[in-house]
Amino acid sequence: MVDLDKIISLCKRRGFIFQGSDQYGGLQGTWDYGPLGVELKNNVKKAWWRRVVYERDDMEGLDCAILMNRLVLKYSGHEETFSDPMVDCRKCKKRFRADQVDHNEKCAEGDKHDLTEPRPFNLMFKTTVGPVAEENNIAYLRPETAQGIFINFKNVLDSTNRKLPFGIAQIGKSYRNEITPRNFIFRVREFEQMEIEFFVKPGTDDEWHSKWVEDRFNWYVELGIKPENLRKYEQKPEELAHYAKATVDLLYRFFPEREDENKQFDEVEGIANRTDFDLNCHTKGGKLVLADGREIPNTHAVNKLTYFDHETNQHILPYVVEPSAGVDRATLAFLMDSYFEETVNDGQRIVLRLHPELAPIKVAVLPLKKNHDGIRNTAMQIKNTLMKKSGWRTVYDDTAGIGKLYRRQDEIGTPFCVTVDFDTLENQSVTVRDRDTMAQERVKIDALQDYLAKKLGNCR
Ligand code: GAP
Repeated sequence: MVDLDKIISLCKRRGFIFQGSDQYGGLQGTWDYGPLGVELKNNVKKAWWRRVVYERDDMEGLDCAILMNRLVLKYSGHEETFSDPMVDCRKCKKRFRADQVDHNEKCAEGDKHDLTEPRPFNLMFKTTVGPVAEENNIAYLRPETAQGIFINFKNVLDSTNRKLPFGIAQIGKSYRNEITPRNFIFRVREFEQMEIEFFVKPGTDDEWHSKWVEDRFNWYVELGIKPENLRKYEQKPEELAHYAKATVDLLYRFFPEREDENKQFDEVEGIANRTDFDLNCHTKGGKLVLADGREIPNTHAVNKLTYFDHETNQHILPYVVEPSAGVDRATLAFLMDSYFEETVNDGQRIVLRLHPELAPIKVAVLPLKKNHDGIRNTAMQIKNTLMKKSGWRTVYDDTAGIGKLYRRQDEIGTPFCVTVDFDTLENQSVTVRDRDTMAQERVKIDALQDYLAKKLGNCR
């Protein structure tokens, strides 16, 4: 299986992902998605949204502001507790996450690091809103999209007349000032999440939790992740966050080079049963209960975030099941799982066997001769017609010989290449080449769209 280094190299070479602020030496923990990366990432998000919103009858979507009132993060508990333990080396001044220190690492000042005691470091990015930078104007960049969903529970409920169970989905950027961002887009300071808060009646939460774990696992597999590279990990009671009744993490084999197989896997998504913890934090008259048992009554919230249960004639606080995925980690998993190096008749090829729904480009139209007007114009026309009528991202490329063009499209995961040659001008047919089998078939131009539609399914 491919390791991260090869993926990083492919991503830079072919324009998937670049270091953030590269032109000025970079900014640690940030990455920019290039022409192909933005398409791939958008396709991951579209596939998720279609699966969890459009293909269900019990979901709504939402898109909240990234800048949040400080009170949201106060009553959610983030101000008090959203921190990682940090240690410093007294000699070289380097900082580490206490639980990630490599005790064999040499200190730049010689011998071993001389580490301080761990102390909490809050991961939220603080800023001020408006022209005056003072205490009252402090706001945060959200550290997760989830809080925006909780505080909008009543807005969505009232505007849609939903009945329990129902969920709210959101995709968007989140920010965490990670002490040691690392492993490419695996741990970064600016990232995207795809989160669902699924609201249910207390007592039905365990069943819904199990259903979501299955559904989320299957989503990755249906989009091409090999089941042997994806694991469900049920957190042990002592590992659970204090507000979670149960959490199952979906782990992907991000680090195949590690000797210990268990260490090869790390989290791509977590599915938590958060009970009524969050709605209780944010509801008018509710309270935040911290891990150490302290209670902080909510004296600022303006609405009750309750649900009127007509069966029992009571206002209740729904329980919440939360499938929370990272867009960047999912994108990385899809890239890694689809990467193959193969020996073929005319040498080596790298191929990304991406699911067609995720492939950045669906069809490439290639002229056999670029300096032949008839061939070039026909190819351009086919490209424009396919793009317009089908909505598939279709490109035209004449910047190299046909063999090289095929290799390029293989390397970026384009499922089909359409080649226009001299015979096309005679009999109105083209060659369609399949990325995975490299098989070629002759297809009439007027049957081309239907032919490709059968193969590409309902992807856009
Ligand atoms: N609302 C729950 C929540 O945010 P989390 O486990 O902290 O839970 C959910 O984050 C997902 O977001 C993770 O499974 C991971 O895919 C992604 N994620 C979290 N921190 C990240 C980071 N620093 N860089 C990239 N992705 C991250």
